[in-house]
Amino acid sequence: MRIETLAVHAGHAVDPATGAVSPPIHLSTTFGREADGSLPHGFLYARGDNPTRRELEHGLAALEGGATALAFASGMAATSAVFQSLRPGDHVVAPRDAYYGTARLLRDVMAGWGLESTLVDMTDAAAVEAAVTPRTRLVWIETPSNPTLAVTDVARVSAVARAAGAPCVCDNTWATPVLQRPLELGCHLVMHSTTKYLGGHSDLTGGALVAPADDEWTARLRTLQTLGGAVPSAFDCWLLMRGIRSLPWRMRGHCENAAAVAAFLHGHPAVDVVHYPGLPGDPGHAVAARQMSGFGGMLSVQVKGGAEAALAVVRAVRLFTRATSLGGTESLIEHRASVEGPESRTPPGLLRLSIGLEHAADLVEDLDQALRGAATGR
Ligand SMILES: Cc1ncc(COP(=O)(O)O)c(C=O)c1O
Repeated sequence: MRIETLAVHAGHAVDPATGAVSPPIHLSTTFGREADGSLPHGFLYARGDNPTRRELEHGLAALEGGATALAFASGMAATSAVFQSLRPGDHVVAPRDAYYGTARLLRDVMAGWGLESTLVDMTDAAAVEAAVTPRTRLVWIETPSNPTLAVTDVARVSAVARAAGAPCVCDNTWATPVLQRPLELGCHLVMHSTTKYLGGHSDLTGGALVAPADDEWTARLRTLQTLGGAVPSAFDCWLLMRGIRSLPWRMRGHCENAAAVAAFLHGHPAVDVVHYPGLPGDPGHAVAARQMSGFGGMLSVQVKGGAEAALAVVRAVRLFTRATSLGGTESLIEHRASVEGPESRTPPGLLRLSIGLEHAADLVEDLDQALRGAATGR
């Protein structure tokens, strides 16, 4: 089945108890036993498993082409479980431009717990190879990256990881399973912040892991999911299932609009650089064209005049919402270095745009007036 069909139907059947077409939300935290102590439906207690989450997990596995999926309370909870599944003394290779929460988790939490990490330029497979040590147990990739949209060659880096005997985990949040298929490109696990495109409406927080097989590692991840307790509520699972139904069609709109906005910004007199892998001159274009079926809805733009000029654009927009996050129907803009704080490595003039599902011409008009206003000091 194609992804549009999977998104509508996977993990989703008419409710056998009632005939309800929209799935019920199972709020119960506990499940009845038979007189002999058995659990007739296999559910015991909601932190371990519940019918709404199970339905979502089946859908997530199908969507990403995996055998099994685990839903978490946030993307960071899913990432934490992956790192906690390793042992103190193990080593991780991760991108130096990873989502700043992932980099901070490695540095501020996991390092104290004994997990070592080396941050490298993931666009350079030789650098990844050089960073691998005999204790490397995981290679973490994120592509396109946040916020400079650097593109990692997933097949190449997962082959490096495989040769080192370490699994390769891909944060596929920005691309989504609609545009990029990490398990087919050799990755051993996919991670999502479902808060973003999968949810798609800026109204839920969630995370997911999808694996190609049910094995010892996924059993350990499930133990961490249950004992760590960072599980999504039944309502968030239901909202996420609803969001996923329209994901493939929303991604078409995000890609189409982002391409139009990138084309407008490219060569604009107030703009230094546009980071968008769909632009033929972008350093990641060739690899992205090979491994993605569309270039996504995210782009970053470096405005001439540094932080001051960038902040003036942010102040001047009328249609874009000034907010962090991404993947919702509404377009968002943010000055990334301000959000990341004093340790940020992001260029000071960089604005990150999450391109929504408004009409592209309205988005272009808004950016045009904001860039003109900022340039003339209005
Ligand atoms: C690429 C990426 N990974 C992970 C996360 C963390 O996800 P969450 O906020 O759901 O914990 C984010 C959040 O912005 C992200 O953009």
